[in-house]
Amino acid sequence: MDIGHATLALYAAGAAVATTAVAKLKTRLELSKAKHWSLTGHARMARRIARLVPSYQYDEVQFFRCDGPPEEVAAKRHAGFVRLSQLYGERFAETNRRTAEVADGISDLQFTDAYRVPFQFSRFVQTHLKAGAFLQSSSGVTVTDLDGNRFYDLTGSYGVNVFGYDYYKDCMERGQARVRELGPVLGSYHSAIAYNVQRLKEISGLDEVSFHMSGTEAVMQAVRLARYHTRRTHLVRFCGAYHGWWGDVQPGVGNPVPAHETYTLRDMSEDTLRVLRRRRDIACVLVNPLQALHPNAGAPADSSLVDSSRRGHFDRVAYAAWLEQLRAVCSERGIVLIFDEVFLGFRLAPGGAQEYFGVRADLVTYGKTLGGGLPIGVVCGRKELMKRFRDDRPADICFARGTFNSHPYVMAAMHEFLRDLDTPQMRELYRDLDAVWNERAERLNRRLREEGLPVEVANLSTVWTVFYTQPSRYNWMLQYYLRAEGLALSWIGTGRLIFSLNYTEADFAAVAARFVAAAKAMQRDGWWWRDPAATNKSIKRGILREIIAHRFAPGDRKD
Ligand SMILES: Cc1ncc(COP(=O)(O)O)c(C=O)c1O
Repeated sequence: MDIGHATLALYAAGAAVATTAVAKLKTRLELSKAKHWSLTGHARMARRIARLVPSYQYDEVQFFRCDGPPEEVAAKRHAGFVRLSQLYGERFAETNRRTAEVADGISDLQFTDAYRVPFQFSRFVQTHLKAGAFLQSSSGVTVTDLDGNRFYDLTGSYGVNVFGYDYYKDCMERGQARVRELGPVLGSYHSAIAYNVQRLKEISGLDEVSFHMSGTEAVMQAVRLARYHTRRTHLVRFCGAYHGWWGDVQPGVGNPVPAHETYTLRDMSEDTLRVLRRRRDIACVLVNPLQALHPNAGAPADSSLVDSSRRGHFDRVAYAAWLEQLRAVCSERGIVLIFDEVFLGFRLAPGGAQEYFGVRADLVTYGKTLGGGLPIGVVCGRKELMKRFRDDRPADICFARGTFNSHPYVMAAMHEFLRDLDTPQMRELYRDLDAVWNERAERLNRRLREEGLPVEVANLSTVWTVFYTQPSRYNWMLQYYLRAEGLALSWIGTGRLIFSLNYTEADFAAVAARFVAAAKAMQRDGWWWRDPAATNKSIKRGILREIIAHRFAPGDRKD
C-alpha cells in the first residue's frame, strides 16, 4: 500500500470510529434527556447522596420552632402536642404496651416506626406519640385495636382490601372448606386451580397463567421472561414507580447495590418514547398504572413530607393516551409491555387497568386482592412469552419455581374471589365507581376550602393522596390528629388513603367529618402558622443547610 492509500485508509478508519463515537454519544445523551430531573430519576446519585446524609434529631425546643414561629405559636403547638400525647397514652395504653413488648424483636416494626415522619422529628414523636401495631378485629369498614378503639380503615391493607374485610373472611372460610380434604399438599394441584386459570385468561385476555407467592415474585418472573424471550438485557421502569422490593425494580435508595440493567425513565414523556424507539437493549417496559396519580414521583410517604411540594392529579384521558403510545412503540420495537396491576388490578374495574384504560399489555402481573385474603402473585401472558424453555435448545431454559406456588388454600380463596367477581352484587360495587369517588373527593375538598384549611385530596378512584396548599414543615403531624379522630392510616401516613368499595355514603360522611375535625384541631394548635416569606424552596434550602452543618460539625462526621 503506498502512502496515499495508507493515509486514506487511516482517515476512513478515523471517520468510522468518530461516527460510531458520535452515534454512541447521541444515544447516551438521549438516555440522559429521558431521565427525570429529580433525584428519584437518578438512582445512582440518590444512593450516593443518601449515604452522606447525617442523622440528627430536633430537641424539644427545636421540635416546635424549626420554622421560626413567634413564641406564642410554639407554646400552642407544645400544648397541643402534650394533649395529643396524653390522649394517645390513655386511649391506646394496652395496644402500645403490647407493641413495646415485641418491637425489639421485629425488625420491620422498628423500620416502619422510624420512618413515619421526617427523620429530624422521629425520635421525639416515637417517644411521645406511639403508634400501636396491634389490632383485635375488623368489621364493615372499621378495625378495632386491643383497647377497643374502633377506627375507620383507610389503610386498605396495602391495597388488598377492595371489597371489605368481612368479604375476605368469608372468602377464606369458603375456600378452606373447599380444599380441607387435600390440605397443604404442594407440587400437585387441587382442582380449584382449573377455574382460576380459565377466569384469569378471560379477565386478562391473555393465554397463560403462572402462580407465585407475592407481587414482587410475579414482577421478577415477568421481567425474567421478557429478557429470556427478547434476548435483551434491560428493563425500563418509570421514575417513582413501585414494583415490589426486588433489586432490579428498586435501583435507588433502599437497595445496597446498583441495578445495572435497569433504566429509570421519565413517565409521560416524548424523550422516553425516543429512547424506546432507538435502543436495542430494552427487553421490557414495566408500568404501574398507579403512577397516573403522581407521575414521576415516588410513593408519597409522610417521612419525606418535609415541605408542601407533594402533589397529585389524575387525568384518565391523558394517561390512557400515554399507555397507547407506549403500546405502539413497544409493538414496533419488539419490547414486551408489562402492566404491573398488583396494586390496581380489580380495584378500578373487574377487568383491571387494561379494561379501565382500554390498552392491552403483553404480560400482566396481579396480586394482593386476587388471593381472596391470602398471599399471591400472578403473571398472565401471551403464550410465546410465558414459555420457559426452547424447543430447539433444551438446555436454554428460563427457570421459575417457588415452594408455595399454587398452594391449595390460596387457590381455593382465589377461586371464591373470581367466582364472586361475576355476581350481580359485586358488579354493583363497580357501578359509577369513579363518579362516586370523584364526587366524594370534591365534596371533602370543598369543605376543607370553606374551613380555610391548607389541605386537599387528589384521587384515582378509591386511592387517595393528601397534599398541602401552603408551605409548612409540619404537615406530617396531620396523621396523628387523624388517628386521634379514629381514622386508621398505614405507616406512610397521609400519602395514601385507600378506601374499600363497600364504603357507604354514611361511612364516607363520617370519615369526611373526622378528617375536617382533625385538620381543624391541627390548625388550632398552630402547626400551620406560616412565615409569609417561606416557600417550599426556602424550606428545602434551610434543611439542606442543617444537613451540611451537621455533616461537617466537629465530632459528628460520618464517612
Ligand atoms: C404495583 C406493585 N407491584 C408489586 C408489588 C409487590 O407486591 P408484594 O408486596 O405482594 O410483593 C406491589 C406492592 O405494593 C405493588 O404495589
